[in-house]
Amino acid sequence: MVLGVGIDIVKVDKIKVSLEKWKDSFLERVFNPEELENISKNKLYYQRIAARFAAKEAIIKALSKSGPLALKDMLILNKENGAPFCKFKNNIGVDIFLSITHIEDYAVACAVAQKKM
Ligand SMILES: CC(C)(COP(=O)(O)OP(=O)(O)OC[C@H]1O[C@@H](n2cnc3c(N)ncnc32)[C@H](O)[C@@H]1OP(=O)(O)O)[C@@H](O)C(=O)NCCC(=O)NCCS
Repeated sequence: MVLGVGIDIVKVDKIKVSLEKWKDSFLERVFNPEELENISKNKLYYQRIAARFAAKEAIIKALSKSGPLALKDMLILNKENGAPFCKFKNNIGVDIFLSITHIEDYAVACAVAQKKM
């Protein structure tokens, strides 16, 4: 059963400004260590941070009818083939179908939440 759908867009520059201002404390407020290890500091670093922020917001929207969820309750990771996926810290009985895209200035994510069978 589909529980909900969520979409979010994030301006890459906003992430850059937050990181410059708050540095590691911004990252620690939003991400778990395993997620940060997955984001290499290459030329797409800010885009990938923005995309993962968008992914978390999209998932929160998709699950908004199912109770409160915090940004760090979920981990946004990549499969070996590069496809993104969401892992919850605690099993909440939900599967997330997630898609991410980013260009220079914006990152977008879309999530569908489904009750685990
Ligand atoms: C995977 C692919 C669709 C990504 O598209 P893109 O336009 O390069 O980049 P986007 O910004 O739209 O998407 C990037 C995101 O796609 C996701 N992605 C990567 N591989 C994926 C896959 N196999 N399945 C689903 N999503 C994938 C990732 O989340 C990635 O962001 P991240 O690395 O920050 O996690 C693309 O690289 C691809 O393989 N296209 C197939 C067609 C092709 O081979 N074209 C080239 C010859 S014409």
